Amino acid sequence: MKPLEIKKGIHWVGGVDWDLKEFHGYLTRRGSTYNAYLIVDEKITLIDTVKECFCDEMLIRIKEIVDPKKIDYIVSNHTEMDHSGSLPRVLELCPNAEVIASPNGEKGLKKHFGKDWNFKIVNTGDSVNIGRRNLSFVLTPMVHWPDSMVTYIPEEKLLLSNDAFGQHIASGERFDDEIEWAILEEEATRYYANIVLPFGAQVKKALEAVSGLEIDMIAPSHGLIWRSKISDILDLYRAWAANTTEDKAVIVCDTMWGSTKKIAEVISSVFEKKGIPAQLLDLETTHISDIMPLLLTAKYICVGSPTLNNGMLPTVAAFLTYMKGLAPKNRVGLAFGSYGWGGQSIGQMDEILSGCGFEMLEKLRVQYVPSEEELNGIFDTLKKAL
Ligand code: FEO
Repeated sequence: MKPLEIKKGIHWVGGVDWDLKEFHGYLTRRGSTYNAYLIVDEKITLIDTVKECFCDEMLIRIKEIVDPKKIDYIVSNHTEMDHSGSLPRVLELCPNAEVIASPNGEKGLKKHFGKDWNFKIVNTGDSVNIGRRNLSFVLTPMVHWPDSMVTYIPEEKLLLSNDAFGQHIASGERFDDEIEWAILEEEATRYYANIVLPFGAQVKKALEAVSGLEIDMIAPSHGLIWRSKISDILDLYRAWAANTTEDKAVIVCDTMWGSTKKIAEVISSVFEKKGIPAQLLDLETTHISDIMPLLLTAKYICVGSPTLNNGMLPTVAAFLTYMKGLAPKNRVGLAFGSYGWGGQSIGQMDEILSGCGFEMLEKLRVQYVPSEEELNGIFDTLKKAL
């Protein structure tokens, strides 16, 4: 459990969570890290901590460098407990340390831990001198919580970005150029789509706020540190925050006896005919968090369910609840399905998609098992609508 010096006098002292496979409904098959950073200067400074169960791992790493009693400042960029969970134990070791946080950070930490620590409140533009270096703060509310902020060290051209630019990857490597770009891109995309997506407007503001900074390293609080692919990750965030879509379709459904799936296949063939790439995903075998990265840039979102007990299948309801919360914007929606008698599910899905602000296509429904004629009718109706 060695620390790693990422810049002269600045050490990664975080924890590696190989076992994390689920994070608030999001499958994290590659695990994650909780990155904390120790800066050895005239004032010893710890940037964030780790999830409580990784506190010992972090302390072992810190003790390789300095006695934790000597920590002067702990910067809490974000209150969520994957970063603040070890604060109580660390502060038992250095009770006089000042906890630097945003105004909402102070409130959040007091509500989480019930302690009146020695807080130092900072706002955007504030700086704290720690010797050779200055810590400069930019508040980034809602990236990821109202308390979130980032810390910039101009002398090092280093941005400590907390949740922003993170990826859920457990690894022995610490830098972006030490693992394949395809893995980094996939996990950064999954992370944005499943966590950051609702906060596009705030991400835009945060990107503007840091756009004037000279940066040669971005050290997030999850996953790999960016030093070689900084412009790549910034470009991806700019595109995602702008909600830029492409002519692509994602068709998501579940089926009872195969009728809704037959409609989904016809819908897919219409998109194909129109030269629009389509992906068909069955919720029986696909996790909802695996669908979100595909929705990140797809213009068309089609959702299908038969009617079960006057409603949609629970898998479809779960997907729609999850997607609605993540709030993709500027999309075109389509609800479809088969039914026996009531057929309520199609109207319910249409209402939810419409409630997401999507421009809606005419809903498609077929009673019981669709005949060839009915499937041809669906093909023609949708082809005309696209
Ligand atoms: Fe990684 Fe919002 O906590």
